[in-house]
Amino acid sequence: VHIPFLRPSIPDHETWTPYLEEVYKRKYFTNFGVLHETLCEKMREKYAYPGYDVIMSTNATVAMETVLRTFGAKSTCVVPSFTFPATLHSALNASLEPILCDADPETWDLSVPHLEDLLEKYDVGAVVGLRPYGFQRDISDMLKVCRDRNIPVAIDAAAGLGDVRQQGTIGSEFGQIEVFSLHATKVFAIGEGAAIFAPSDKIDGIRRAMNFGFQEDRTFIDGGNGKLDEIRCAIGLAMLDKIDAEVARRSAIASRYFETFASAGDLVTLPVDVGPTPWQAFPLRFRTKELLGHFESALANKGIETRKYYSPSIRQGYAGRFRNSVEREETPVADDLAQVMLCLPVYGAMTDEEADYIVTEINKITSDMHAHN
Ligand SMILES: Cc1ncc(COP(=O)(O)O)c(C=O)c1O
Repeated sequence: VHIPFLRPSIPDHETWTPYLEEVYKRKYFTNFGVLHETLCEKMREKYAYPGYDVIMSTNATVAMETVLRTFGAKSTCVVPSFTFPATLHSALNASLEPILCDADPETWDLSVPHLEDLLEKYDVGAVVGLRPYGFQRDISDMLKVCRDRNIPVAIDAAAGLGDVRQQGTIGSEFGQIEVFSLHATKVFAIGEGAAIFAPSDKIDGIRRAMNFGFQEDRTFIDGGNGKLDEIRCAIGLAMLDKIDAEVARRSAIASRYFETFASAGDLVTLPVDVGPTPWQAFPLRFRTKELLGHFESALANKGIETRKYYSPSIRQGYAGRFRNSVEREETPVADDLAQVMLCLPVYGAMTDEEADYIVTEINKITSDMHAHN
């Protein structure tokens, strides 16, 4: 038996090539073409909070960088320590100096008390929030802390797009910008890509920033190339047709994991209060890294792949030029989470037999671990 950690949900090519007929007829392949505009419109209708619009980008790293540029922020930017390296890169690439924020031990989101400390201590121009593992929980306490101080927020929600219950929920009265990755490994998968949800009056600035900073009179400000071409927008349109079925299947698998671990005692802590999450993977927090190591290799011996996302933490893993900035704040919770979090596979293409097999093996391994701990 071999159960890979990922099976990409990218739509079959037969489903998206028909969209390209119109594109070839027009001979217009990128720069906000007709498929791009249609995809943005459909994304807005399906998911956006009232007053928000959508624009696509070439990947989430560039999309975050683009959004951060539009803030015109002073030099310092709060960045989570428990995240994927790209979150840090987007701030660095937007010429911001990163200050790390620790994680909350229960939700694994940014720690709001630590964020408040940072906003007192430094002259912060922007905050990068995180939706770890794509969780779609209510983060209004964190958003309020920033709004009360007039600090713009961009949320790295990379793995979080696709649940049908997200309708009308992406965005909020706080005006934060939310960025989702459409990478092959994500739930809403097109290959490389991103979707940016922003208040409607912010879209034009983002569009210019991702189009070399061109202004109406052809002068140009800071920017880059973050546009999504028509070929990948075609894949996006086909993905919209299959996303609900994909997420329904993933949610069913996540529910089985919840049931399976309900009886696992204090060996693991499960995700809490996750909102309408599309389940890119199923994260577990182990009591110790030794227990995690044991569980991980026991599953591997049975042909079941798992993965440690966000490990090492940014604080412990970053060895680049801005190491001094990154070292300024301690992030003990993030450093610890990076050692004790493990993700189980979740994907639409997982068969019932595979899910049964995984659950059966987990039950055997956890009862064995209980017997020895
Ligand atoms: C939290 C987070 N942010 C950003 C990214 C980068 O996304 P992309 O590959 O679209 O640039 C990822 C990718 O896995 C991620 O997990």
